[in-house]
Amino acid sequence: MALLEILAYPDPRLKQVSEPIAAVDNALRALIADIEETMRAGPGGVGIAAPQVGHFVRVVIVDVPPRKKSSSHGRQVLVNPEITEWDGMVIGREGCMSVPDYTGNVIRAERITLHALDEQGLVREFEMHGFEARAVQHEIDHLDGFLFLDRLVSRRNDLFRRKIYQAPPG
Ligand code: NI
Repeated sequence: MALLEILAYPDPRLKQVSEPIAAVDNALRALIADIEETMRAGPGGVGIAAPQVGHFVRVVIVDVPPRKKSSSHGRQVLVNPEITEWDGMVIGREGCMSVPDYTGNVIRAERITLHALDEQGLVREFEMHGFEARAVQHEIDHLDGFLFLDRLVSRRNDLFRRKIYQAPPG
């Protein structure tokens, strides 16, 4: 396995539209292992998309821990994911490994239905809601060349610089 370099905004490659996977094979599984290792090496990574590490294929990994009001499916590899149903709209705060210095408020569907292939090439269908649904919508956006910066509710009021720890003076 290997850690991969994460492309950071404003790298123009992040705007590229990624290609569908034709075959789920060992080469893809090896790439998935590297992508996952890279995700887990980052701070608080609950999701990553292949184009963030320079592979322009439709592969996403999410691993959203369940929260009080929001169940989740745990670790999932989503190959060629497609959202087929959207329901409800909620505003929530997002961050991104490719936009390390900012977070922002974005409107997403509250519930989604999606299908995807898993890492064995089997068709899986999911119903997701809450933060997990948000994470998947965020990651699928990467496959289409969008960042959360493109979807801010308001560019002026909904973009926040991350607090960076600084030692107090003296
Ligand atoms: Ni992201």
